[in-house]
Amino acid sequence: MRIPIIAGNWKMYKDLTESKALAESLKNCLKDVNPEDTEVAICPTFTNLASVNEIIKGSNIKLGAQNMYPKQEGAFTGEISPLMLRSVGCQYVILGHSERRQYFGETDASVNEKVKVAFEYALTPIMCVGETLEHREKGITNSVVKTQVEGGLKDIPKEKAKNIVIAYEPVWAIGTGKVATKEQAQEVHAMIRGVLKNLYDEATANSIRIQYGGSVKPDNVKELMAQPDIDGALVGGAALKADSFEAIVKFKK
Ligand code: 13P
Repeated sequence: MRIPIIAGNWKMYKDLTESKALAESLKNCLKDVNPEDTEVAICPTFTNLASVNEIIKGSNIKLGAQNMYPKQEGAFTGEISPLMLRSVGCQYVILGHSERRQYFGETDASVNEKVKVAFEYALTPIMCVGETLEHREKGITNSVVKTQVEGGLKDIPKEKAKNIVIAYEPVWAIGTGKVATKEQAQEVHAMIRGVLKNLYDEATANSIRIQYGGSVKPDNVKELMAQPDIDGALVGGAALKADSFEAIVKFKK
């Protein structure tokens, strides 16, 4: 059985004071969430990870980063290593978000390298895939997403792959208020699971959690989560406020 995973991607929002305040509120309002029932993670900016970790340590909220450089250490000015993420309490790391692909030149090959190294350092990747509006209008959504999934998972053995989280985030739905319909999302999620089955086997495909991301809000999360292949949500805007993130996490209520 796949435990749903709701993660908040805070992107480049919230300074130190604001991040700590949001973490405090979430710790408080999510304390009744059973992690066996719904897993919760928050992903603040690098500079606020350590302070947020101090607040949520020992709670049922896990910590994730938004990116990582795929080396343990070295002369890589401005970069952050997996060991550094581990040392501030991260268990998750978002990799290959469409904003990183769009603005920072990330490719399936660079995402794949990061996925491999994240696993080496016991970080669980949340690997993002998703088509642009142009891809969707051209009718090539499935082939684009399939290429991203296969590229990101290249040479990742099934023992590791079974623990990855994949986030399907249609680029046209991110930050636009235009959510994919539950049917559109389910169709791509099922396609991704089929790709995983081909790459690995049925048991592995069935154990991998696939999140949906793109304008997830308290009022649409329930119908999305009711789809058989949607196992969680990667939330941007609505993760920046405790009440809306709480409502999303508690989608079963
Ligand atoms: P929004 O929820 O703001 O659309 O962002 C989604 C996203 O990119 C999460 O990674």
